[in-house]
Amino acid sequence: MTMVTMIEAKGLKRTYTARGKQIEAVRGIDLTVRAGEIVGFLGPNGAGKTTTLKMLCTLLAPTGGSAIVAGSDLRTDAVGVRRKIGYVSQAGSTSPEAVVGDEIISHAQLYGIDRATAKARGQELLAALDLSDVWARTCGSLSGGQRRRLDIVMGLIHKPELVFLDEPSTGLDPQSRANLWKHIRSLRDTLGTTVFLTTHYMDEADSLSDRILIIDNGTIVAEGTPADLKKRVSGDAITLTLRNEADAARAGGIAAALEGADEPAIDAHVVRLHVPDGARALPVLLAELTRAGIDAIGVDVNRPTLDDVFLTLTGRSLRD
Ligand SMILES: Nc1ncnc2c1ncn2[C@@H]1O[C@H](COP(=O)(O)OP(=O)(O)O)[C@@H](O)[C@H]1O
Ligand SMILES: [Mg+2]
Repeated sequence: MTMVTMIEAKGLKRTYTARGKQIEAVRGIDLTVRAGEIVGFLGPNGAGKTTTLKMLCTLLAPTGGSAIVAGSDLRTDAVGVRRKIGYVSQAGSTSPEAVVGDEIISHAQLYGIDRATAKARGQELLAALDLSDVWARTCGSLSGGQRRRLDIVMGLIHKPELVFLDEPSTGLDPQSRANLWKHIRSLRDTLGTTVFLTTHYMDEADSLSDRILIIDNGTIVAEGTPADLKKRVSGDAITLTLRNEADAARAGGIAAALEGADEPAIDAHVVRLHVPDGARALPVLLAELTRAGIDAIGVDVNRPTLDDVFLTLTGRSLRD
């Protein structure tokens, strides 16, 4: 497969002026997305995700920098960009009282697609997203997950090479979210559509993306595959629950002596620490505790999550 660049942004910047105050929402970011990739743009609320996405979609003018999107320069050929991309906004775009088929056809007409082609293409996409029977229903009668999938059908009606999804699964229940992820992956696999999505959910970024860009405060702070990013966090987390505070204090002292361990954090009956290899450290730790006559009532070993990555990079949790 040849490596075609789908998005190449350099120094992209956006400063808002609100009530005489300057807000640097996006502070000069560089990013590259290759054809056929699913790239997750992960960051907390207010990080600058939507602002970046809207600039890349030509919906918002950058105050600095530039980007080539699907082969066109967004500053000099916005029309060229729009023709080749799809955009699914955070809020969605269908009105509740409208009939699904009518919404799809009028949306397709925006791109100069005739009714017959729009219907054929719409029904094909609906089927691909498990929405075969909804053509004659009103948008408002669909479930949250179905409605979100319909938004994606609209975003793909003109066969874009690249689709932007802003917070695709926000507001959905866990089962609908997992189902949506499955459909997004299969769109990429069957149609070859490049996907650039924003999310503040680390599980979404983790299970959906080939590559993740982490944004905080208008700046990209890290990028890599989910596995690469997790490797940046040193070691596994061990959590021990003891019977009482005295045991926790003694267990903390024992745990601190493990090879490569960091300083254990003790909170009432619970001791937390990191070790380079949890599977190797655990039997040693349990044997030492038994020898000291300390009974651990709970033991957990956790591989690093993307939240640990974010915490390591920024000192804050993505969950906050
Ligand atoms: N139209 C606007 N006017 C002023 N400030 C804005 C506007 N839109 C967004 N912002 C601010 O820019 C920052 C980034 O916002 P946004 O790109 O929406 O973040 P995210 O999508 O990551 O939650 C936030 O501080 C937000 O309050
Ligand atoms: Mg947003």
